[in-house]
Amino acid sequence: MMLSARNLSWATGGIDIVKKISLDLSAGEFLGIVGPNGSGKTSLMAMLSGLRKPCSGEVLLDGKSLNQLQRRDVARQIALVEQQAETQERINARQAVELGRIPHKGALSPWTPQDDEIVDQALHDVDMEGFGRRMWHTLSGGERQRLHIARALAQQPKILLLDEPTNHLDIGHQIALLHLVQQQKLTVAAALHDLNHAAMFCDRVAVLKEGALVAMGKPCNVLTTDLILDVFGVHVDVEREGEDACHIRYRAPTMIYPVRTT
Ligand SMILES: Nc1ncnc2c1ncn2[C@@H]1O[C@H](COP(=O)(O)OP(=O)(O)OP(=O)(O)O)[C@@H](O)[C@H]1O
Ligand SMILES: [Mg+2]
Repeated sequence: MMLSARNLSWATGGIDIVKKISLDLSAGEFLGIVGPNGSGKTSLMAMLSGLRKPCSGEVLLDGKSLNQLQRRDVARQIALVEQQAETQERINARQAVELGRIPHKGALSPWTPQDDEIVDQALHDVDMEGFGRRMWHTLSGGERQRLHIARALAQQPKILLLDEPTNHLDIGHQIALLHLVQQQKLTVAAALHDLNHAAMFCDRVAVLKEGALVAMGKPCNVLTTDLILDVFGVHVDVEREGEDACHIRYRAPTMIYPVRTT
């Protein structure tokens, strides 16, 4: 299953937010999308998921434009976990995950024990097994975030789009979650802020700056001292670890307001 963006652009109020982005997500890869606040990561992911229509360009799912596909057919293939995902307050944790099964259900396909198994597995995968009956409004931010991921896993998509999936998670759960996502036989694109997480877990990383795709490739080839200074305005040292691994060390002070990138 391939997802491709072709010259995707989106503008609002006369301002170009996403500028002619083209990229291919290949089957099974984990792509990290990094870039400063406001660089267009969420806007790009909204278009990749079909949630937002591009002003120009198109998104192709296995060669077919998302525009030509039914919303439900797209939802069977692509799951999106939004940065600020909302969930109705008056449901419990398990019901929130069960929502992931909706694209697979219809008048002729009622709920089955297999759906329960899929939901159980998703709750187990994000370490939320014991929380099924807890009401949504009683859950912590990190617990809610893990349930949003569980809902996306229960959707059994081919492509998982995650907008800042580690939001609200403690460092243990951040690493565990990225590892879980990496282990799935899924194509994944995730907006990430932690460049070391991108380096650790992603096959490739796409870098956005002011709505444009300015670099894309293996993390250790892309996340260089010069690029990080140019895009984020932060001085770093990058330690290479063997062929494919690298570690980014931020030099103090890491940020002084106003942040200047030139
Ligand atoms: N509906 C909208 N109306 C006006 N401006 C918008 C709208 N959606 C996004 N923007 C603007 O577009 C720019 C890109 O927003 P986007 O949410 O895609 O950035 P992001 O890279 O995801 O940032 P963050 O790291 O803060 O999540 C921002 O300046 C934002 O204010
Ligand atoms: Mg965002």
